[in-house]
Amino acid sequence: MTADGAARDATLDPSRYTDPEFARAERKRLWPRTWLMACIAADVAKPGYVAELAIDDQSVLVVRGKDGVLRAFHNVCTHRGNRLREGNGRAGLLRCQYHNWCWHLDGSVSDIPRREAFPCLTDDEAALHPCAVEEWEGLVFVFLGEDPPPLRDYLQPVTDRFGPYHLPEYGCITKASVRVEANWKTLCDSFLEAYHAQGIHRQVLAYLDEQGVTFEVWDTHSHMVVPIGVPSPRAGDLTPTDVLRRMVDDEGFYGMVLRAMGIDRTVEVPAGQTAASWFAGLNRDYLAAHGVATDLTDSQLVDDHHYFLFPNLIVNHFGSTALVTRCRPDPTDHERSWWDVWVLSRIHETTPTPTAPIYDGVPTDELGRIANQDLDALPGVQLGMHDRSLTAVRLGTDERRIVAFHETIDRWLAAP
Ligand code: FES
Ligand SMILES: [Fe+2]
Repeated sequence: MTADGAARDATLDPSRYTDPEFARAERKRLWPRTWLMACIAADVAKPGYVAELAIDDQSVLVVRGKDGVLRAFHNVCTHRGNRLREGNGRAGLLRCQYHNWCWHLDGSVSDIPRREAFPCLTDDEAALHPCAVEEWEGLVFVFLGEDPPPLRDYLQPVTDRFGPYHLPEYGCITKASVRVEANWKTLCDSFLEAYHAQGIHRQVLAYLDEQGVTFEVWDTHSHMVVPIGVPSPRAGDLTPTDVLRRMVDDEGFYGMVLRAMGIDRTVEVPAGQTAASWFAGLNRDYLAAHGVATDLTDSQLVDDHHYFLFPNLIVNHFGSTALVTRCRPDPTDHERSWWDVWVLSRIHETTPTPTAPIYDGVPTDELGRIANQDLDALPGVQLGMHDRSLTAVRLGTDERRIVAFHETIDRWLAAP
């Protein structure tokens, strides 16, 4: 409401996406004070597996020790500050290349060349700096700062929602990291609403009802359900078979899911079924054929159950498949970010191995048309935030999760 009592839509100051001071506040008050998804559990499934989370100007290594214990260390040499490692992989020891200081996987010192040249150095001082790490539902989280709350408390109430999916049983079938010429919040915003489907993703309107989305906005996190297998009111008259065929034709995620089930363009939806109910049955049969008895509801098997875990993680559940998406600020340019995506499938043949991104930097066809439409649009959004005439970004009720996301950021930045 305005002072004169008139209703007003939510607005944001565009400078929060462009101002280096805002990014500095996030560096100080946001990133070190929230749980951050570091990797999937498969990346650190076995002793000697190491995964890196590089976020803003910080980097953390998650390490499965020879004793099977999961630990995390700030990725910095305790000699003169060199970064120890980059990316995911395996290691018997952690070694700094600069002067060869070396640590066991539990962070204790293994070797310091010419140790006698550091007559006062204790093993405690030389040990790697630990940080908090916890695992939940096949995802590994770290907390960079002091006094982390228990992860499960932090994730409430989402912790009650993931059980039926059995995410730890999923395998990673694709991982990508793509550089985006936009602030990390510009990227995050783009995932938090389906309103833009009728803008840049018009091809999905044949099977995605962007006007039928339902929302849950909690204290810190949020959820939306995007109806799939239901055409938008904008799509005109389509039969259930038309809807399914348009999903098969999709050069993105849904087409991939249907093709994995052996569904092609010849699909016919039987009389009396909707596209959504038919798709739910297909998904249930697909799981059963692979020995998975599921008690997921039809909606959980068909719709996009889209969870946002503050500050930068999104998990889309699709019944037999899940997309895990993370938005990471770049270390040197606050108007650049990294979009990390893991495509997880309950039906898979992969054995757990550290997953390296399949590519860095440029989008490719492999992520599908929808992803490329988003990635093509975002640099223009970021540039527009600088326009001297733009005093406010406006948000409608379909964008309420974005409003909540930014309010939560402000809460974190204002906290003592
Ligand atoms: S900076 Fe790492 S060993 Fe010297
Ligand atoms: Fe999009």
